[in-house]
Amino acid sequence: MPEGFLKPALAGFQPYLPGEQPPDGEDWVKLNTNESPLPPSPRVVEAIRQAADDSLRLYPSPTAAPARIAIAKHLGLQPDQVTLGNGGDELIEMCFRAFAGAGDRVAYPTPTYPLLDPLCRIHEVEPSTHPTELPWELPPSLGPDPAALKFIVNPNSPTGAFFAKAAIEAVVAASAGVVVIDEAYVDFAPHPALSLLQSHQNLLLLRTFSKSYGLAGMRIGFAIGSRGLISALDSVKDSYNLDRLAIVAAKAAIEDEDHHRRIVSAVIEGRDFLIQELTAMKFDLVPPAANFVFTKPPADADHVASALRERRILVRHYDREPIAGWLRITVGTRQQHERLIVALKEILS
Ligand SMILES: Cc1ncc(COP(=O)(O)O)c(C=O)c1O
Repeated sequence: MPEGFLKPALAGFQPYLPGEQPPDGEDWVKLNTNESPLPPSPRVVEAIRQAADDSLRLYPSPTAAPARIAIAKHLGLQPDQVTLGNGGDELIEMCFRAFAGAGDRVAYPTPTYPLLDPLCRIHEVEPSTHPTELPWELPPSLGPDPAALKFIVNPNSPTGAFFAKAAIEAVVAASAGVVVIDEAYVDFAPHPALSLLQSHQNLLLLRTFSKSYGLAGMRIGFAIGSRGLISALDSVKDSYNLDRLAIVAAKAAIEDEDHHRRIVSAVIEGRDFLIQELTAMKFDLVPPAANFVFTKPPADADHVASALRERRILVRHYDREPIAGWLRITVGTRQQHERLIVALKEILS
């Protein structure tokens, strides 16, 4: 849309740019958007098939009730401590709607998920960024920041760094506003922050089915927290933000824990292989806690990423400090890794 139509507060707006999604069926090695290398549970696919019937003429449950109940049961929570969104991304946006008004501060460490900057512009809030550098620890300035809303992505993207529970708890305890821990990648990390929910009413955790459940295409995420925070999110959400197929998919996915564990184990095994190979090729690596590795090649990263792209291999690369020269490579299948390694050896030789 021509800029002239945008509200004046969005002058010069830089929208969030999702990673490249080449057309399905082409022979790409897609290691740029942290999708699962394995497919979703066959039970999920079957549940979607069964639900694709005449009932699609009816609106879905506005609260995605069957999924909410199943997720709560899985985590030992009450259904009113869970709400669902059209991906974790929608839940992040709902947090802005519910907890931060125009002119309020929204705080987060950087570098982090690049969706937060454009959301600050859209909601006309003041971003309060807390820069970090290698080894990417939580900055001490974040806790005392008087922001209405804080985000911590843990494990962080793109750095892959994992913040210890004590450091997270210190920020939550020091904050009068709402603290959101975006746990999109937590299933690949040492532990979640779930146990902190009992003692902190201002803490919200966000999860997604896009990574460790192999369901990025269905767009399902969920938030868990105190009843007060969940009802605030519910009060600002779109009426029917999950469609009927997403609701049955979420329920079937959370109920197939064996399949979920298989995806997580395969990713961790693949990650170990990738680390070993990249280390042997003299890449720098941040100890990874997610389904990707954040790595600095022993050559110009821009050149490496473009040379990979020429070979139909997609990775994410960064040109802004403090992560200029780094690549984020999603853990893929063994076959994809082998293609990647052969290509990297060729490019670096
Ligand atoms: C840090 C982080 N949070 C949230 C998401 C959102 O995931 P989705 O909207 O697919 O649930 C992503 C996706 O890549 C992410 O990297």
